[in-house]
Amino acid sequence: MTPLKIGIAGLGTVGAGTARLLADNAALIATRAGRPITLTAVSARDKSRDRGIALTGITWHDDALALAADPNVDVVVELIGGSDGPAKALVEAAIAAGRPVVTANKALLAIHGTALAAAAEAAGLPLGFEAAVAGGIPVIKLLREGLAANRVSRVAGILNGTCNYILTTMREEGRDFPEVLADAQALGYAEADPAFDIEGVDAAHKLTILAALAFGQNVDFSAVHIEGIRNISALDISFAEELGYRIKLLGIAQQTPSGVSMRVHPAMVPVSKLLAAVEGVFNAVLMEGDFSGPVFCQGRGAGAGPTASAVVADLIDIARGSKIPVWGAAQAALAPSRPVAISAL
Ligand code: NDP
Ligand code: HSE
Repeated sequence: MTPLKIGIAGLGTVGAGTARLLADNAALIATRAGRPITLTAVSARDKSRDRGIALTGITWHDDALALAADPNVDVVVELIGGSDGPAKALVEAAIAAGRPVVTANKALLAIHGTALAAAAEAAGLPLGFEAAVAGGIPVIKLLREGLAANRVSRVAGILNGTCNYILTTMREEGRDFPEVLADAQALGYAEADPAFDIEGVDAAHKLTILAALAFGQNVDFSAVHIEGIRNISALDISFAEELGYRIKLLGIAQQTPSGVSMRVHPAMVPVSKLLAAVEGVFNAVLMEGDFSGPVFCQGRGAGAGPTASAVVADLIDIARGSKIPVWGAAQAALAPSRPVAISAL
């Protein structure tokens, strides 16, 4: 069987986790993919750093862009991060060189997703991004494939593991915000710049991607109303608890008569609701299709294992030769809606 040869750019939490998963579950992955998936090349900044993975026999590129031109790489996996800079340059170069791309980079897709998808689709290449939203929950597959026959009226949920971990730990252990944030960073949950998490920007990136899939609109990050959790105090959390609520950072995208509204903000969720019971690093997504009715799923939203699981699911799809358009059938089937921002709630 001809192996699918992959090159990974970025060997941090997710990149090293992906290399580990490919090595640990190699036989199972080869069976499911129909052929082995082999790591042949990598790139990161610091070659001397011990990442807990075996890199013997794997080509090291100091310049990530070299992965796009490496003849021993069939698929480029971008796990550097950032909406511009080396991540964007690499994805563009890989598509231009005719190589499928898998990325976990929601910041990149929320800003440049429409253009990158158009480039990939014009070249007939897959662009996998299951790992970009909700970690280990296969929500992209659910929206793009499982609910493909539905008109979706709402997608909502807990989309940032770091914030949910912070809010849960502050409530359960009564610890301070900065201390719990430091834990989330040490556990590999937070973004390189954790302001993206706590200001709600990361959740907004993910909501933008989900809305594009659900409603067949172009990605439009600028239309999202965003408030984070920076100003939530332990006192707020305990008052909410006394009143029968949990404070959660929610992302909500829904059809309205005037278009699609997208918003991210902390909300008081009654303890009786499913979302209130989603704790720690877990994420949850609620989708409402006209024929399916409500679909609710939850799982770990951040960290090496869940995110690597999603990256490798995309690689298995590519190894099998599955040809799913980047944004699915949604954009062809529905008239695009003009997103409207909600400025006050
Ligand atoms: P890390 O900061 O842990 O890792 C980033 C990696 O990129 C590092 O290995 C770094 O190298 C490397 N890097 C930085 N600049 C370059 C460059 N110019 N060329 C090559 N390599 C470079 O990030 P994460 O692994 O946490 O995140 C990676 C991506 O996955 C991001 O897009 C993030 O948003 C996304 N993501 C993260 C999740 C998580 O739970 N952490 C979950 C879902 C998505 P070096 O190690 O040498 O410094
Ligand atoms: N920083 C992100 C989070 C990583 O905490 O949800 C997963 O996308």
